[in-house]
Amino acid sequence: MRKKIVAGNWKMNKTITEGLSLIEAIKTGAPKVQKAGVDIIVAPTYVMLSDAAKAVNGSSIKLAAQNCHQEESGAYTGEISATMIQAIGAEYIIIGHSERRQYFNETSASIAKKINVVLSKGLTPIYCNGEVKEERESGRHFEVVKRQMNDELFHLSAEEVLKVVVAYEPVWAIGTGLTASPDQAQEIHAFIRQLLTDKYGAAVAEEISILYGGSCKPDNAKEIFSKKDVDGGLIGGAALKAEDFLGIVAAF
Ligand code: 13P
Repeated sequence: MRKKIVAGNWKMNKTITEGLSLIEAIKTGAPKVQKAGVDIIVAPTYVMLSDAAKAVNGSSIKLAAQNCHQEESGAYTGEISATMIQAIGAEYIIIGHSERRQYFNETSASIAKKINVVLSKGLTPIYCNGEVKEERESGRHFEVVKRQMNDELFHLSAEEVLKVVVAYEPVWAIGTGLTASPDQAQEIHAFIRQLLTDKYGAAVAEEISILYGGSCKPDNAKEIFSKKDVDGGLIGGAALKAEDFLGIVAAF
């Protein structure tokens, strides 16, 4: 059975003090709303990962980093490696977020390499893809997502891909208040699962969690999560307040 997941991507928000109190509030509230089989993940900034690892230790909350460099180590000033993140105790790394593609020139080639380095450390990539507004409006979203999966993910073996979480995040829905309708989400999640089936077979595809991201809130999460191929959410803005984030966890 594939996992249900609610993951909070904090992006460039929260000081260490603020982040630790958010984790405390999530830890306190989670037992009241977290159903069996639903994983909660938080992805704070690098600077507080170490403190966050201590804070989540022994709780039901798992830890993710928001990015890593594609090389294991070396002369890359300002960068952070998957090895360092693993040493801290995080289990997940978000890879290929649209903001990294848009503002930091991440390419399909670098994303594919990052997925490899994350897997080589025994960590789980949360691999993001999704189309921009013009691509959706011109009906090219299926083609775009297919190309992304081909170029960034499908070099993996079946054994490797089973360790990946996919997050479909339509760029037009991120931070805009626009959300894919539950039917739009289901349609493209089913398409993504079909691509996985075509490449790896149904038994593998059925085991891979596919999360939805883009203006997911407590009031729309239930309907989106009720769709057959939606296995949870990657949450931005609503992950910054414990009440909202836990409201989304409660939607399962
Ligand atoms: P919002 O929930 O703020 O739209 O962000 C989604 C996202 O980018 C999560 O990675």
